[in-house]
Amino acid sequence: MENLTMDKIVNYAKNYGFVFQGSDIYGGLANSWDYGPLGTLLKENIRNAWKKRFVEENRYNYGLDSAIIMNPNVWVASGHVASFADPLIDCLKCKSRYRADKLIEDFTNGEITADGWSNEEIEKYIKDNHLTCPTCKSSEFTPIRKFNLLFETKIGVVDDSKNIVYLRGETAQGIFVNFKNIERAMRAKIPFGVCQTGKAFRNEITPGNFIFRTREFEQMEMEFFCKPGTDLEWFKYWKDYCVNFLHDLGLDDDKLRMRDHAKEELAFYSKATTDIEFLFPMGWGELWGIADRTDYDLGVHEKHSGQDLKYLDPDTHEKYLPYVIEPSVGIDRLLLAILCNSYSNEILEDNTEREVLRIKYALAPYKVNILPLIKKNHSEKAEELFTLLSKHFSTSYDESGSIGKRYRRADAIGTPFCVTIDDETMNNGTVTVRNRDTMAQDVVKIEDLVNYINDKIQF
Ligand code: GAP
Repeated sequence: MENLTMDKIVNYAKNYGFVFQGSDIYGGLANSWDYGPLGTLLKENIRNAWKKRFVEENRYNYGLDSAIIMNPNVWVASGHVASFADPLIDCLKCKSRYRADKLIEDFTNGEITADGWSNEEIEKYIKDNHLTCPTCKSSEFTPIRKFNLLFETKIGVVDDSKNIVYLRGETAQGIFVNFKNIERAMRAKIPFGVCQTGKAFRNEITPGNFIFRTREFEQMEMEFFCKPGTDLEWFKYWKDYCVNFLHDLGLDDDKLRMRDHAKEELAFYSKATTDIEFLFPMGWGELWGIADRTDYDLGVHEKHSGQDLKYLDPDTHEKYLPYVIEPSVGIDRLLLAILCNSYSNEILEDNTEREVLRIKYALAPYKVNILPLIKKNHSEKAEELFTLLSKHFSTSYDESGSIGKRYRRADAIGTPFCVTIDDETMNNGTVTVRNRDTMAQDVVKIEDLVNYINDKIQF
């Protein structure tokens, strides 16, 4: 859709019950968001599609659900306590606070990312290119300080520094520390992957752009353990796998692009990293990061835990630390991409306007909407149908307003099928099924209805 703005999507999401401002009745909490009834359904459908594709349909992979609060040594070993930090810079004049690398990214419209740059390199770029404060246009900034993103909390009843624990900054570490458990319990042979979805927490300096960057978000991550030397092949395999998944979710090809990290941008432990970016209303942004993390994570956990995390190949008797390919995506960001990609405001042949969410059927919050044509004549039968269909797929029921208005409401939230119950239903047991995209109507026998819909909504 032309000219889709972030404001438009935020209002749409709020009005239709996808996403609300967090703690709204208390004036909100900046950058915290609550998922409403439709947002919850959509999020679950995205999560389920990912689990189906990455865990159930992939013979190499297993699932996991690890704890959010882990032994703090996990985060010491992983390097997060020492260096999971963003470069913080303040404007000396108006005191606005920024992520210094983001200033450069915004200044160059995303052409330059300062990932992997030292503080000195960032400061030099800002000075040499005369970057100014986006708020007051001053060019006077403080030196850069590192700001750690881990959220600290305390465990237990005694209030001292020994009780400090962290809310996990990524779900990945829960997978690394369970590598041996899974290998043993599942008799897993390399290569294999472990997948999990769950909340992650980061004290972001500049959250924003709605649910694009928040302090509390959900990740879907996989760590794929493979033999060193085979890692670049697997890196390519998983990149293709992720892009295919995004296509199958309905994201348009011209709104997706791959960005390979340049050598100087790579994290010191990474051999290769590619971001899949999406064209959001505010510009291109990272949607999915895919990285070859080498044996870095297992190596540091082996060192800090004192446990042998090497893999013994039962066929060749070689012993080695596996390399890891990690595709990591945030559900919230993916949900935003899907909303932006699917929302449109169409002018119909009769010059009326319709708001429609052309979302993949499998992702639609409701698959079918039940509409009794005349409440007093058809609602009893309609309720019977609701009971029948809701056992198979998420179903809504709408008996207020004209049939045209009810169709429009269903279109706006992306419901693929509207089932109208009328006198024909009472006399011959048939219903009219209207399709969201074509607006064409089919007459279907009640006994065929479940199969008719089921066939069309599979992922
Ligand atoms: N384990 C690797 C890792 O966490 P990342 O690039 O920091 O890598 C992976 O995060 C993905 O998680 C991102 O591509 C994005 O989709 C999502 N993500 C990261 N930070 C986020 C935030 N503050 N808010 C929403 N989503 C976020």
